[in-house]
Amino acid sequence: MKKIIAANWKMNKDRAQSRAAAEELASGLAGRKAERTVMIFPPFLSIAEVSKALGGCADTVVGAQNFYPAESGAYTGEISLAMLADAGASWVLVGHSERRHILHESDVFLAQKTQFALSRNFGVVFCIGETLEERESGKLADVLTRQISQGLSAVFDMPSNLLQEKLIIAYEPVWAIGTGKVAGDREVLEAHAKVKEILAAQPGDLSILPVLYGGSVKPANAQALLALANVDGLLVGGASLEAKSFLNIINA
Ligand code: PGA
Repeated sequence: MKKIIAANWKMNKDRAQSRAAAEELASGLAGRKAERTVMIFPPFLSIAEVSKALGGCADTVVGAQNFYPAESGAYTGEISLAMLADAGASWVLVGHSERRHILHESDVFLAQKTQFALSRNFGVVFCIGETLEERESGKLADVLTRQISQGLSAVFDMPSNLLQEKLIIAYEPVWAIGTGKVAGDREVLEAHAKVKEILAAQPGDLSILPVLYGGSVKPANAQALLALANVDGLLVGGASLEAKSFLNIINA
C-alpha cells in the first residue's frame, strides 16, 4: 500500500496564501519521487482554491478540518458536507486532539460525525492519542481503546471494503503535537502496535485500516518514521505549511 502523507493546515493561511502554497505543491507533486497518496486539509475558505490548484494531481485529495453532522438547517456557524463537497472536499478530519480538548468534542459526538461522513461517501481521518498525563499514569492502552471502541462504534456494521477505502486512523500523541517533541521510535512502535491490536479486536476486525503517525513530523524525521512497522503514513501540521518542507516529507 502507498504511504499516505496528510497536511493539516489548521487555522493558517488566507485564500491567497493557500493558493500560492497549493500551486507550489502542484508543481512539486508532478515530479514526486516517492509513490504516495497526498491529502491536504486547508481552512474552509481555502478549500475551493486548493482543490482547483491540485485538481490535476494524481493520488491527491482535499479535505476539511471539520463539519457538522446534519444535512442543513439551524446550526449557526457550522458547515455541512454538501457545502464542503461543493468546494471540492472529499475527506474530513474527525477527533483531532485540538477539537477533543479545545472544543470538547466527546467520543459520542465523534462517533456520530464518523458515521455521518462515511455514510455520505466522505472519507474520514479519525485521530486518536493520549495526553502526557495519561501516558505517564500508564493509561495509554485504556485511552486508545476507549477512543477507538467508542469513536468507531457506529461503523462496525459498515462493509469492510468501504472502511478500507474511506477510513484512516491517525495516532497523534497530544504531547507531541506542535511541541517539537516527536515520539521516539520505541514509543511510536509500541503505540502503533497497540492501535493495530485494538483495531483487530473490534467487531468486524478493523486491522486493515491504515494508521498514520502525527506529532512534530519534519522533513528530518519523516523517513525514519515511515520506516517503522505499522506506520502507514504521516499527518503533518506545522511542517506542512511551507510547500517545500511538505514536499520533502512526501519525498522522504
Ligand atoms: P504538528 O501537528 O505536526 O504541528 O505537531 C500535527 C497535527 O496536529 O496534526
